[in-house]
Amino acid sequence: MWERRAFAAHDYERSNPAMYVVTNKLTVPPENATRLEEGFAHANERMRDVPGCLHFTLLREEGVDGSPVYIAMTNWEDEAAFQAWIKSDNFRRSHANAGDSGAMGEVHSYTAVF
Ligand code: HEM
Repeated sequence: MWERRAFAAHDYERSNPAMYVVTNKLTVPPENATRLEEGFAHANERMRDVPGCLHFTLLREEGVDGSPVYIAMTNWEDEAAFQAWIKSDNFRRSHANAGDSGAMGEVHSYTAVF
């Protein structure tokens, strides 16, 4: 497992000097946190098949008031790959039920400096 990850990191470093990163910060009522996490249950496998998507992670921060805050983080070969995904049926399908947990999104995009 560890070896596989090390290889993936190496591979990605070689092929992506101008990486583009998009995060979506999701706040959700605490009682819907499990539901939100379940909505992302297959995201890893699905995002692996999206052209130009290098990596997906769902991060959770334990908020001070007890409400968890999530960051869906996506790494892309370039901005064009991200834009293509946003416009795709794939994105639309994976967000068809995204409102059910009352999640609110805040999107940020970054270019890698180093
Ligand atoms: C701002 C509006 C958005 C909201 C409220 C939102 C919320 C959600 C929710 C709740 C899910 C889980 C789906 C489910 O429960 O069925 C999801 C999936 C996902 N979201 Fe968003 N999202 C938004 C836009 C974005 C954007 C701009 C990105 C780019 C980083 C993104 C990245 C993802 C990814 C990677 C998945 C998993 C896709 C899959 O499984 O195929 N989302 N989103």
